[in-house]
Amino acid sequence: LGYRVRPIEMGDIPQVTEIDRESFANSWSPSTYKHDLRFNRLTRYLVAYEEEGKPARQEVSVQSGGSGPLRWLRRRFSGEVSHPSTGQHILGFAGLWFMMDEVHLTTIAVREAYRRRGIGGLLLISAIELAVLRNARMVTLEVRASNRPAQALYEKYGFRRVGVRRGYYTDNREDAVLMTADGIASASFQAQFQRLKREHAERWGESHLELGE
Ligand SMILES: CC(C)(COP(=O)(O)OP(=O)(O)OC[C@H]1O[C@@H](n2cnc3c(N)ncnc32)[C@H](O)[C@@H]1OP(=O)(O)O)[C@@H](O)C(=O)NCCC(=O)NCCS
Repeated sequence: LGYRVRPIEMGDIPQVTEIDRESFANSWSPSTYKHDLRFNRLTRYLVAYEEEGKPARQEVSVQSGGSGPLRWLRRRFSGEVSHPSTGQHILGFAGLWFMMDEVHLTTIAVREAYRRRGIGGLLLISAIELAVLRNARMVTLEVRASNRPAQALYEKYGFRRVGVRRGYYTDNREDAVLMTADGIASASFQAQFQRLKREHAERWGESHLELGE
């Protein structure tokens, strides 16, 4: 069985921050993610998890008072709302920022123990699919000059180097390489992209993408 991708839920934040901590020098706190999820209408996070045959379900008993929409809102934003996702083992995540006809990949990370198993590739495929669905023309990103694994991932899926921001990263003044996948809806990009998707499915199993559109 392949992997599954779906939009993030509040209940995923502890696992996402765990992956963030083991992946980045400057990791985000759970409250930063919560704030982004609640208030930032321009961002979208996707999480990847393993298909387990039958999705794990764990109902959460809700203590908050009130009724109707107010009660739902309180539960939704306190993170205690029950969701079928609860109990699923999150293996990686990606963040996207929508700006007109451009989608910026703000972050992507896979649990260290699960790397080199196609999960980063699947998250990138999902990000590109979502960008196409949103009628974006291109996907852009910055990557540390020293981060060869990530650069290889992006190149494999059609990103090209378009520039360098000198001393972009504040922790060590490292350069950022700017990379772009342009013309993502064009016939030539799509032909290559569909081939890569087929190869991914043949190698890692058929995956299920739920992009929230
Ligand atoms: C970058 C990252 C997300 C890749 O995830 P992953 O699940 O290991 O990637 P995949 O298994 O899908 O690999 C897809 C392709 O990426 C490239 N790649 C991934 N890891 C690589 C490595 N260590 N060395 C060289 N190429 C690598 C390869 O081209 C690979 O294709 P292949 O399997 O045909 O060789 C993961 O290494 C990670 O979480 N790193 C830490 C966080 C990070 O640096 N994020 C990027 C911020 S810009």
